[in-house]
Amino acid sequence: MLISFEGIDGCGKSTQINLLKLHFNEKGIVFSVFREPGGTAISEKIRSLLLHETHDMDPVTELLLFSAARSQLISEKVIPLLKKNHIVILDRFFDSTTAYQGFGRGSADLKSIHTLNRLAAHTIKPDLTFYLKIDPAAAANRISSGSKDRMENAGSNFFKSVSDGYDQLAKGESRFHVLDAEQKPEAIHDEIVAIIGDFLQSREQGAANKTWKEV
Ligand code: TYD
Repeated sequence: MLISFEGIDGCGKSTQINLLKLHFNEKGIVFSVFREPGGTAISEKIRSLLLHETHDMDPVTELLLFSAARSQLISEKVIPLLKKNHIVILDRFFDSTTAYQGFGRGSADLKSIHTLNRLAAHTIKPDLTFYLKIDPAAAANRISSGSKDRMENAGSNFFKSVSDGYDQLAKGESRFHVLDAEQKPEAIHDEIVAIIGDFLQSREQGAANKTWKEV
């Protein structure tokens, strides 16, 4: 099972991922978490270029580097774990590219971004995507001004476009679950656990039906 977390910078993704890790640990569930960009030696090097490089980066270069980091992570780590039936949690996945590079930067047309996303993801998709929706101004207040990385410095108009992009994506696919990120963290966590529980239950029922049919 593949779960992705999405949202603009400052939406509280890390807090929710940490709460979910604690929950899975308590239940004895085997899982792995990876952040994007990152998660492999090559992808972490690309991450440094993307986030800490101070020179101007061409938007297409940026798009291709995020995609390159993703391709390495998915082929080296994620697909082998999914084949072993592990739960994999991704702290961002290709929806970030659509929202940030597609809607935010306008690095390329959405059709090209979709094609590139499919390639870099080796055609896999999340089963569930949790989109932590927050007002961009509220999110900006959560990010301390001293420690901003290259993306976080992009400005309020950029984050408004990224946020609109996520809203559009969420309307298009049933794997998206939109969560009000301005609620208390525990309340958001409870919603996430309930959605995962429902998903696993319906998948089990699907599998049970299949076995029954095969018998
Ligand atoms: P990170 O410090 O991991 O931020 P966060 O905790 O908000 O995920 O930095 C990742 C940054 O890269 C973040 O600003 C979102 C951006 N990003 C893209 O622009 N495109 C992408 O495809 C991905 C994966 C991330």
